[in-house]
Amino acid sequence: MERVVISLGGSIIIPGKQDGEFLMHFASLVKDLSREFELLIVCGGGKTARTYINVGRELNASEEQLDELGISSTRLNARLLQLALGDLADQYIPHTVAEAVERVGRGKIIIMGGTTPGHTTDGVSAALAEAVGASRIINATSVDAVYSADPNKNKTAERYDKLSFQQLEDILGSKHGAGVSGVFDPMGASIVKRCQIPLMIVAGRDLEEMSRAIRNLPIKGTVIS
Ligand code: UTP
Repeated sequence: MERVVISLGGSIIIPGKQDGEFLMHFASLVKDLSREFELLIVCGGGKTARTYINVGRELNASEEQLDELGISSTRLNARLLQLALGDLADQYIPHTVAEAVERVGRGKIIIMGGTTPGHTTDGVSAALAEAVGASRIINATSVDAVYSADPNKNKTAERYDKLSFQQLEDILGSKHGAGVSGVFDPMGASIVKRCQIPLMIVAGRDLEEMSRAIRNLPIKGTVIS
């Protein structure tokens, strides 16, 4: 079975309003597709992470301590997704990529969050994809594609259907700070470039789009290869 890693943005899991129904629909899509693909899902922290990081910053916590708050938020979201998937999911949350690798091949969907301060869950997804030999990474995010600038702020921003790994790196630059967020994490982008694992950027709340991406069918989002 092909292995597919999904980097599921926190904003998709907890969009700011209470939406368990979406998670149930997402779970049923994952259930259908898990007959054809071995899925591994890395959950982001979203607003929960940012809220905790911002309050921690007011309390003068160090960057590492703020990252730890972020990691805890990603694991909280991972737990919620495990609950939505029930028996289909491995109910343990791996704390490292190595721990996740030990658990593949047992017929359960692996769900995790962050691992190490200084990273993001996009970076974890790329490292996980490399470690398990995944065929592709789906970045399920709150934007529908990669743009040359923020399309909400700049109406002339160019939308990309396809990019090379190098072009993605050039667009992203290389900044990490607790809670800082671009369309994909620069560390993750350098991993996918090194191991040549295709990356798809898609609107995570659009479940038809998610389904097409997991199946490797044409998408509305951006394919980086
Ligand atoms: P996210 O991966 O959710 O970061 O982790 P993000 O870039 O804000 O992603 P979106 O917007 O949800 O897609 C939240 C925070 O948790 C810490 C970082 O501070 C990150 O900004 N974190 C996460 C780590 O330090 N290490 C990890 O492995 C994961």
